[in-house]
Amino acid sequence: MCGIVGYIGSKQAQPILLNCLGKLEYRGYDSCGIAVSSSGIETCKDAIRVAALKKAAPRLGGTAGVGHTRWATHGKPSQVNAHPHLDCTGNIAVVHNGIIDNFQRLKQQLTSEGHKFVSETDTEVIPHLIEKYYDGNLEKAIEAALGDIEGSYAIIVVVASESKLIAAREDNPLKIGIGDGEDFIASDVPAILDYTDRVIYLEDGDISVITAGSIKIKQHGTEVAREEHKISWTVEDAQKAGYEHFMLKEIHEQPKVIRDTLVGWVSGEPIVDLAMMRDAGIEAMLVLACGTSYHAALVGKHIVQELLRIPVRAELASEFNYYGHTLAGTTAIVITQSGETADALKAMKRLKEAGCQLIVITNVVGSTASRIADQTIYTRAGPEISVAATKSFMAQLMVLYWLMMSYSKIEARRLASMTMELRQLPVKVQQVLENEDKILACARYLSRYEDVFFMGRGVNYPVALEGALKLKEVSYIHAEGYAAGELKHGPFALLGGNTPVIAIAAQDNTYEAMLTNIREVKARGSPLIALAEEGDEVIGELADSVITVPKVDAIFSPVVNTVALQLLAYYTAKERGCSIDFPRNLAKSVTVE
Ligand code: F6R
Repeated sequence: MCGIVGYIGSKQAQPILLNCLGKLEYRGYDSCGIAVSSSGIETCKDAIRVAALKKAAPRLGGTAGVGHTRWATHGKPSQVNAHPHLDCTGNIAVVHNGIIDNFQRLKQQLTSEGHKFVSETDTEVIPHLIEKYYDGNLEKAIEAALGDIEGSYAIIVVVASESKLIAAREDNPLKIGIGDGEDFIASDVPAILDYTDRVIYLEDGDISVITAGSIKIKQHGTEVAREEHKISWTVEDAQKAGYEHFMLKEIHEQPKVIRDTLVGWVSGEPIVDLAMMRDAGIEAMLVLACGTSYHAALVGKHIVQELLRIPVRAELASEFNYYGHTLAGTTAIVITQSGETADALKAMKRLKEAGCQLIVITNVVGSTASRIADQTIYTRAGPEISVAATKSFMAQLMVLYWLMMSYSKIEARRLASMTMELRQLPVKVQQVLENEDKILACARYLSRYEDVFFMGRGVNYPVALEGALKLKEVSYIHAEGYAAGELKHGPFALLGGNTPVIAIAAQDNTYEAMLTNIREVKARGSPLIALAEEGDEVIGELADSVITVPKVDAIFSPVVNTVALQLLAYYTAKERGCSIDFPRNLAKSVTVE
């Protein structure tokens, strides 16, 4: 997720903008840039770090300007794709956070009207739209431009020889920092805390005209007053947006991540060349990944089996690399959040050499995996700072649902009802997040133990694996995920009062079998926490404690169950005083085999 900043006042804008951008580095970014206005607009931007931009930038004179750190979503990290973006005249500069859903249509139309585009970004349509509508009244032009846009945005606009900045937001955060005869704008509070602790939070639909020392905010053309807040956080607190850890912040970002990742699908944007798969008449599929991404692959396997009704193998990339079988003609999907995991890359090269069709699902635009693949589908989770993967896993699931629903061979009515459910998932995930008190109580209880089993069945077996992985990596409790039916084939020997079991009881064709497994576990004396759908009264009588999750179509149950288990792992680790965001011995990107 990108960061944006703006400054207007009596001081030189350039050093202030660069300092503000430096304070946003924690969010992760692949390129950055600034634009400063005086009699014209001067920009300096590149796919480099902020420190390098500071060194490389010539002196840009002017007391108003905008800046941006970019996390690529449309187009690779490069100088031309870095923000700010300009119109044809070079007099209008825009920085933008968010996603313009209908940018392709707008770009086509603007191109046919004579506008020349230089980047691959969705953002570039904004300065061109403003240019199209600009007849001397900047506010009106921006209002008209935003009226054409579908999607989410926080933008700051600066125009040559107009001593004002205009900021607007829809579904993306934006704040104005009030100084003494100067104003600051930022997507995130840490950017401006060196200069002011007085902040106004813009609301969705707000358009604000900011001059040095005056702020006017309009909502649907009517002037509105917004309260001023005093920020008491430190820069570090502010970077976590008030959450104690990045992991918790990222867990809470998931409703938005689901929406952002599904944007392309909802707007009908082709995710991969569907013809490639259809024409190939694929009869089987291979899904490869490591760690948490492998658990997404295992959920994907169930989705493929149910929706496409073709055989599918999900393999650990590290194991697959040592299989000796022939691969010719395979359609393979590789899932890798970072796009840099050595085992996944090795598997990709092997598949490529064997002439396989290779699709990669990754969160990092321009990553090595995306360069090797025939086709890349980007998840839109934004940068994940916590080493333990949470929101990137969720985004991977969304792509898998969306991709497989696009190819589905199931009847139209079921597909329509699944589509409706898919769109409801952000709300359902929000409901899980609001059940934190109950999960916290279970976490307190769990934190006293050293061994825990997670059991699931069907599409929730991978969720048991993921729940165990999350718990062990952040709380250092020994945890194992098991297929519930397998516990009796060995692990029963470990059950007893010191080994709690977490059972995922989804309302699908595995439910009755899971009840039997729960009874078996209870008979062996293990404390039992169940994850169950709201309204499930049977579970309440069997389990020692129940975490309820909202009702969803069973195929989507991994979504709500995973969020509950992420929170359980987080709070257990917190109770044990662990280093949650940076667990011992682990790295975010595993670039060795
Ligand atoms: C666990 C975790 C790791 C990664 C694994 C693969 O929380 O983050 O298990 O999932 O290292 O990484 P990517 O998806 O980058 O290939």
